Amino acid sequence: MTIRNEATSIISRLRAAGCVFAEEEARLLVEAANTSAELHAMVNRRAAGLPLEHVVGWAEFCGLRVAVDAGVFVPRPRSAFLVGQAADIARPGAVAVDLCCGSGALGTALAAVCERLELHAADIDPAAVRCARRNVAPFGGSVYEGDLYVPLPARLQGRVDILIANAPYVPTEAIGLLPPEARLHEARMALDGGADGLDIQRRIAAEAGCWLAPGGHLLVESSERQAPLSAEIFASAGLTPKIIRCDEWDATVVIGTRETTST
Ligand SMILES: C[S@@+](CC[C@H](N)C(=O)[O-])C[C@H]1O[C@@H](n2cnc3c(N)ncnc32)[C@H](O)[C@@H]1O
Repeated sequence: MTIRNEATSIISRLRAAGCVFAEEEARLLVEAANTSAELHAMVNRRAAGLPLEHVVGWAEFCGLRVAVDAGVFVPRPRSAFLVGQAADIARPGAVAVDLCCGSGALGTALAAVCERLELHAADIDPAAVRCARRNVAPFGGSVYEGDLYVPLPARLQGRVDILIANAPYVPTEAIGLLPPEARLHEARMALDGGADGLDIQRRIAAEAGCWLAPGGHLLVESSERQAPLSAEIFASAGLTPKIIRCDEWDATVVIGTRETTST
């Protein structure tokens, strides 16, 4: 039996395992496997609950195929809204930093649509950094490993036009409510934002003024409920906040601008 002929039994197996989009997933798995043995191994991993993206090794994001290694956060479709907001304000040749970059999906997608973007990305997780390096390489970007701004080159201070961060923002006590695919297969540090979910955002906002160019923008993903607090955090850090909501994507972005003039 050829790999393609196995699709029907794979669909049933995936359905039985609770995969809602079994047909589409079966198609992707068949496409990804080189041999029947490989296909069976992949179907077994998926049926055992591994995210499809970790099984095939990539995620579709903003029309790009982004490499996603085991344990690395799978970019969520709603984050395309943050990329779109950043793309709307980025001028050609802008300097962009993707903090807490994970696979580097957001920075990569931004570089794909912005002319001559100078892209820098950073993450604390070595597995994420390895993955992000592969994704940003075609766009000439650089990826650094370490805690928030620490690994960034000092020459970027005061020069960053666009600072994007989809940092962890799930409150610690809500981690247990996440779907198993996230809870069991994505690194805890990729999800856990502390007691109110905003610990990392606070640290990002506190130092953003040192790195942003005058008129530069910090854009973070938030939830509808947390966004007003994110905006307060931005204001306390000296940034002018704005909340933008997209109901269609269930996406909320908070933008903080470093004003060009001081009074
Ligand atoms: C929600 S995931 C988002 C990843 C990526 N931005 C995306 O949207 O696909 C958060 C990322 O923040 C990283 N992270 C958590 N704490 C960090 C820290 N203190 N410094 C740098 N990165 C951190 C995690 O390793 C993880 O990759």
